[in-house]
Amino acid sequence: MCGIVGYIGPRRGADVVLAGLRRLEYRGYDSAGIAALQPDGTIGVRRSVGKLHHLADKLAAQPLAGHLAVGHTRWATHGGVTEQNAHPHLGHGGRVAVVHNGIIENYTALRRELTAQGITCASETDTEVVAHLVGGYLEAGDDLLTAVRRTLLRLHGASAFVFISATEPGRLVAARLGNAGGLVVGHGEGEHLIASDIPAILEHTRRVSFLESRQLVVLERERASFYTLDGTTFSPTPHLIAWDPVSAEKGPYRHFMQKEISEQPRAITDTLRGRVDFHHGLIHLDTLNLTPQEARDLQHITIVACGTSYHAGLVGKFMLEHLAQVPVSVDYGSEFRYRDPLIRPHTAVLAITQSGETVDTLAAMEEARRKGARLWAIVNALGSQAQRHADGYVMMQAGPEIGVASTKAFTTSLVDLYLLGLYLGQLRGTLAEDSLQQAVADLAKLPEWVGQVAELRPVYGELAEQFHKREHFLYLGRKVNYPIALEGALKLKEISYIHAEGYPAGEMKHGPIALIDDQMPVLTIAPRDSVYTKMLSQMEQVKARGGTVIGLIQHGDKVAQAKADFVLEVPAVPPLLSPIINVIPLQWLAYAIAVRRGADVDQPRNLAKSVTVE
Ligand code: AGP
Repeated sequence: MCGIVGYIGPRRGADVVLAGLRRLEYRGYDSAGIAALQPDGTIGVRRSVGKLHHLADKLAAQPLAGHLAVGHTRWATHGGVTEQNAHPHLGHGGRVAVVHNGIIENYTALRRELTAQGITCASETDTEVVAHLVGGYLEAGDDLLTAVRRTLLRLHGASAFVFISATEPGRLVAARLGNAGGLVVGHGEGEHLIASDIPAILEHTRRVSFLESRQLVVLERERASFYTLDGTTFSPTPHLIAWDPVSAEKGPYRHFMQKEISEQPRAITDTLRGRVDFHHGLIHLDTLNLTPQEARDLQHITIVACGTSYHAGLVGKFMLEHLAQVPVSVDYGSEFRYRDPLIRPHTAVLAITQSGETVDTLAAMEEARRKGARLWAIVNALGSQAQRHADGYVMMQAGPEIGVASTKAFTTSLVDLYLLGLYLGQLRGTLAEDSLQQAVADLAKLPEWVGQVAELRPVYGELAEQFHKREHFLYLGRKVNYPIALEGALKLKEISYIHAEGYPAGEMKHGPIALIDDQMPVLTIAPRDSVYTKMLSQMEQVKARGGTVIGLIQHGDKVAQAKADFVLEVPAVPPLLSPIINVIPLQWLAYAIAVRRGADVDQPRNLAKSVTVE
C-alpha cells in the first residue's frame, strides 16, 4: 500500500519527507520518490526503484533544497515497477507535482482526452493524468485549490492526493476521495505535515487531524484550511495522539514483529485498562454507545473482517455466543457486500480491523449501514475511518503495530471480543454474577499467562533449523482453537512464503489425511479442553501414516508429549482465553522460520500493512 508524506515549514523539506517515508516502509512498496520546490522556483524530483536507501543515495548525490516537499512510496497498481512510474508525477510543464494513493477508475478516458489535446504522458500510471489535469486548470488561471477541486470532480474511484505547485510556493494542497488510504494532517510549530499514517508525523507533533472522503486541506506554515469538495470551509478539532515516537520504533529488537510479539503482555494490559472494574467485577465499554435496552433487543451479530482480523472474528463467535447468548455469523469483508446480506432488525455488524482502513472491511460496513444495521468496530488506529464511521467502537489499545504480520493486534482484538461478550452478557443478564466475577478474575491473570509465552525461547530456533526448508505445513485445531490453526498457518505463509494450511482437525478424514507424509510437518493444537482426547487421536493418526507432529500442549502433559515428535508448551488457561495464549507460540514459530530463511519479516513481498485498494 502506498505511503505519502508532505511538508511545509522552516526545515529542508526533502529531509523531513524522507524520514517520514522511512516510518511508512512497513506498508510495503517497490519504488519511491520526492519532489521539492527549489529556491530557484523550479520543482526538483528524485525517484528510485527498490528500497528507500537507493533514493537516499540519490538525494545525497543530488540534494533537493527548499521548504516545500512531497514524497511517496509506491506499491504498483497501474504500470510496472520502474523509475518512470515512481511518484511524484509532474504536470503543467513541471510546475505542479502530485503523489497519489488509490486507483482512478476512469483514467483511460481521461488519458485519451489529454492525448487529443496533444498532451502525452511519460509514465504508465493513472496518477500522471491527474498532474496534467490540474496543470491544465492552473494554465487556465485557477489557483491550486480550485484546480484540484475541479479535477477531483472528474475522477471516479478512491484516491488520496497531495499537490505542490511552483506557482504557489507557500502552500500544499491535499485531498481525499472515497476509502483509499487515509490522510493525516500534523499540526506542528510553524510547520505542517501530511501523511498516510501517524508514525510519519509522530516525531514532529502529536496534534493531528484526519481528512475524510471528499475533503481537501490547504497547508501553510502557520495555518491549515479545510474544505469540502463543494468548497465549504470547516474546522475539525485536532486529536492528540497518545502514542510516543519511541513506541513506534524497533528499540532493541531485530524486527518490529519480534517487538510486537514480545510486548503482548503490556499491550493486553493496556487493552484492559479503563474497561475492567476488577474491584466490583464489572465491564465498562462506554464507547460502544449501547443502552441496556438496546443490548437486550439485540437479535444477531455479524462480524466482518479480513485476514488475521477474520480469524479473530471466528474466535469471537465462540466468545459472544457463550457469554452474551447472541447468535453470531462471521463473514470475510471481501465477500459480505457481494452476497446481498440479509440484515434483520436488531442486528449489529461488527467490523474488526487493526488499521481501520481496509477497503473490503469499510465497504462491508457501508453495505451494512445501507441495510440498516447498527455498526460497531474493534479497531487499533485512532481516527481511522472504521472508528469514525461506526455507531460504537472498542479500541484495541495495542499501540502502533508496524510489522505487516499482525500479532498484538490479533490478541488484543480477542481481548476486546471477550470484553464485548462480558459487557453484553452483563447488560442482557445472560451472565450469572459469579460467572462474571470469575471471568474478571481470569482477565486479571491474563497478562501473566501471556507473559509465560511472550519470550522467543530457544525451541523456536531449533524447530526453525529442523523445518525451514519444508515446503508445506498443516495446522490442526478444534473448536475455539480451529481459528488459531488458521491464524498459525497464515503467519507462516505470509512471512516465510512456505505453503501452510489450517484445518479443523475433524476434517482430516474427509480428505487432507491423504496429504500426510514425512515431508509435511503437522502442528496440532491440543490443550486439555473438551476435545482434548480427539486431538490426541488426531496426533496418533498422523504418526501412524509416517507424519511428523509438532504438538502445542499444556505444560507437563506427558500423555500428549508422548504422541508428538516436538512440543511447544503453554500454561493451562480457561478455554475461551486459550486462543489468546495458543496463538503466540505459532507467531514465534513463523517468525523463527522466516528469519532462518532470510525473509523480509517486517515487509513480506507483495504484502501491505493496510490493504486500501481492492
Ligand atoms: C495479517 O497478518 C495480515 N497482515 C492481514 O491478513 C491483515 O490482518 C488484513 O489485511 C486485515 O487488516 P486490518 O485488520 O487492518 O483490517
